[in-house]
Amino acid sequence: MLNKMETKIRKYEERDFVRIAEVYKSAFAEQPWNEFMKCKRCEVNYGKDEVRRGYGYSSIGARLEYVEPKTENRECKKCGVSLSARVRQTQGGAYVLTNKDFTEFWSESDVKKDLSFAEAQSNPIILVAESQGILVGFTWGYSIPLAEFPFLAAKVGEGSVYMDEIAVDPSFRRSGIGKQLCHSFVESASSLAGAGLVVLRTDENNAASMSMFRSLEFESLGVYDPKFESRLYLKREIRD
Ligand SMILES: CC(C)(COP(=O)(O)OP(=O)(O)OC[C@H]1O[C@@H](n2cnc3c(N)ncnc32)[C@H](O)[C@@H]1OP(=O)(O)O)[C@@H](O)C(=O)NCCC(=O)NCCS
Ligand SMILES: [Zn+2]
Repeated sequence: MLNKMETKIRKYEERDFVRIAEVYKSAFAEQPWNEFMKCKRCEVNYGKDEVRRGYGYSSIGARLEYVEPKTENRECKKCGVSLSARVRQTQGGAYVLTNKDFTEFWSESDVKKDLSFAEAQSNPIILVAESQGILVGFTWGYSIPLAEFPFLAAKVGEGSVYMDEIAVDPSFRRSGIGKQLCHSFVESASSLAGAGLVVLRTDENNAASMSMFRSLEFESLGVYDPKFESRLYLKREIRD
């Protein structure tokens, strides 16, 4: 287990991106998000366990590897397209998976889009956690663009800061890194003129994040995401 003292939080730099994409992908591949792979045709998401059990794909990261060849035809749970694996051996000898209908949910370019969106907002706050030279977590957010969140307008003011993402590498969890990232985020938010609240969205079935945010004095805003019934908004006041 890592010692808390060994982790430092610092601002994002461009060289961090590849690791951010890896941590992002592995963090959201698990329950309750289950965003590991998707059917390209209908975009339905598949979680890591579901893919491992049902389709034989195993490793998680920027690149996918195929471990046990499976020959049966697999069909998409939603649209029925064939998701059977096609395996190709690379020049280096590794087996890689190709399937035109089944793809990473969060590819590097998807993560790039998400991060670039944050960078383009006003007052972006983008932080990473580094432990012994390895990037082990990140968080980012910005002054809330209320036009994007009309359903929050009655509850939060213009000066609120939205924490868009926070994730810790699954191998480095439960050692206080998530909390450190949150603290630093709230601290950065509190230095913005007129900032009153930090607001974020999580999923009430996500035990880890629900209890982390509760222990950091976040409370429900009483608003659910209109598109996802179990995703709710939390807030925390920023005090001087
Ligand atoms: C949520 C997340 C960032 C927490 O990161 P972490 O570094 O493990 O968190 P910490 O070690 O700082 O834990 C802080 C507190 O959260 C709670 N917690 C964390 N993981 C938990 C779990 N699996 N079950 C129950 N409580 C948990 C505990 O209260 C913990 O304090 P404690 O260890 O002193 O008991 C991490 O689980 C993650 O990346 N999840 C996937 C991405 C995600 O869901 N992000 C949040 C919503 S956008
Ligand atoms: Zn499908």
